[in-house]
Formats: sequence, structure tokens, C-alpha cells
Amino acid sequence: MEVKLIEFSPHGDERGQLIALEELKEIPFNIRRVYYMYKTVPDAVRGKHAHRSLQQVLICTSGSCKVRLDDGKEKREVLLDKPWQGLYISNVLWREMYDFSPDAVLMVLASDYYDEADYIRNYDDFLSFVKEQTGEENGQ
Ligand code: TYD
Repeated sequence: MEVKLIEFSPHGDERGQLIALEELKEIPFNIRRVYYMYKTVPDAVRGKHAHRSLQQVLICTSGSCKVRLDDGKEKREVLLDKPWQGLYISNVLWREMYDFSPDAVLMVLASDYYDEADYIRNYDDFLSFVKEQTGEENGQ
């Protein structure tokens, strides 16, 4: 599964902490879009989709939330509760974000502009897409 937790280096001094993120440095792609979620209700589950080509880094800049990831074979759960950590998510991964704390702010850095055509919103379609891709990689 192409997922990794990236640790950012805070610039800390007596005034507090500051994290700077630059494309192709801390973030392993060109950043074309930033969005964030806040005031998420406690039992909400967001995401529930995969992307055909979009890559993202998720950062919980305040509070906490959990991310469930699924590549069609393996499932993983990651807790995001540190503003100095970013979760890199490659394309073709089903993701669900849940268990948001009341103060959670989940910021997402994305490799491309918003494009509904890049979304796979149905889980069975996602599994078919994974199969197609694996077939192509094996020369079928
Ligand atoms: P949605 O895809 O439901 O969010 P999530 O994946 O977090 O559950 O998006 C909610 C709304 O926001 C939907 O109407 C599409 C819109 N939206 C944009 O206009 N631009 C964006 O970059 C994103 C992520 C969503």
C-alpha cells in the first residue's frame, strides 16, 4: 500500500511552533489545491471514495481523526493527532475519515484541481478498477 507518515520539522522557539510545507520538498508532489474540514460532527464518515490519479497529504492541524485505507487487498487504519505529521496517500486507495474530535481541522494538500471525473465513489467500481490496473501491469 502506497501510504506513508511524513514527519515535518517544526521551527520552534519561545513563541511556539511553525511548520512550513513546500511542494517537492516536504510534500512529494506539486500542490495544486488545499482544502480543509472543520466542525465535523462526531459520527460523520467522510471520504468513502478513491481517486484514479490524485495524490494527497492529509494533516490534522488541530485535534484528531482516523483514516481507514484500503487498496483492494489490504486494509489499514491510521490515527492523525499531531500537526507535525502528514499522511501521504497515493492514487487508487479507498479512504474513509472518521472519529473526528470536536476541535479537529483536517487539511488536505492535493496534487491536482478538483475534478469529479477523477473520483471513484462506488466501492465495487473501485475493486474493478484495481483489478483492471493489476491486469494491465501483468500485461493482460
Ligand atoms: P465531498 O467529496 O463529499 O467531501 P469528502 O470526500 O471529504 O467527504 O465534498 C463535499 C463538497 O465539496 C462537494 O459538493 C464537492 C465539494 N468540493 C469542492 O468543490 N472542491 C474540493 O476540492 C472538494 C474536496 C470538495
